[in-house]
Amino acid sequence: MTLLERLRYETQPHHSDLEACLGLPRSKAHYCVQIQRFHGFLVSWETTIEKSEHASLLQGRAKRHLTRADLEFAGLTRAEIENLPRCYDLPQLETQSQILGSIYVLEGSTLGGQMISRHLEKNLGFGGGEGYRYHQSYGAEVPAKWREFKDTLVKQSGADTDNEIVASAACTFASLHAWFAGTPSLAQV
Ligand code: HEM
Repeated sequence: MTLLERLRYETQPHHSDLEACLGLPRSKAHYCVQIQRFHGFLVSWETTIEKSEHASLLQGRAKRHLTRADLEFAGLTRAEIENLPRCYDLPQLETQSQILGSIYVLEGSTLGGQMISRHLEKNLGFGGGEGYRYHQSYGAEVPAKWREFKDTLVKQSGADTDNEIVASAACTFASLHAWFAGTPSLAQV
């Protein structure tokens, strides 16, 4: 199997678990709690990568400004957003392979994000791009950005790197799952 096939195939059970844990937003309140959790994950995950020697891998792909914009649109003050809990139980983000495997997970989620955006428009009254910028991510550029990232993965693929990339993607899914599963109010809204 190629690296891309392995990533898709070997992390598929993690994706299913995470998708089942999150569920499609069923109300504005449910959606808002989900975005708060995405924000709490992204702030620490992105800043960890940005402080590493492989920060350039995330260039043009950071998204915490989008979750912040969505939370401001939902009515949270800057202070409330700043004080949201952050996820510190992150996967190891040191080597290039670890960082690439981890970015695969968050970049891949832009694909599902397109579907979630349509769900928000159809069922929760969102429209015109405001309030769901995180899920819209790159908008019309999603397919191109995904292809570009897959090219980066393919370039780094090799007998000595693939296992580490795939393991890091699995750890990232596990970390996200634990983070969302541990959201006290997610099941109640
Ligand atoms: C309710 C939540 C979610 C739904 C409905 C969903 C749905 C989808 C769909 C439909 C695709 C395939 C798109 C395509 O092949 O064109 C996809 C791919 C993917 N999603 Fe999700 N997703 C969800 C949550 C997430 C989350 C939270 C993450 C990680 C942060 C994630 C990571 C990925 C990855 C990595 C892929 C790419 C798989 C590959 O082709 O290699 N998804 N998702």
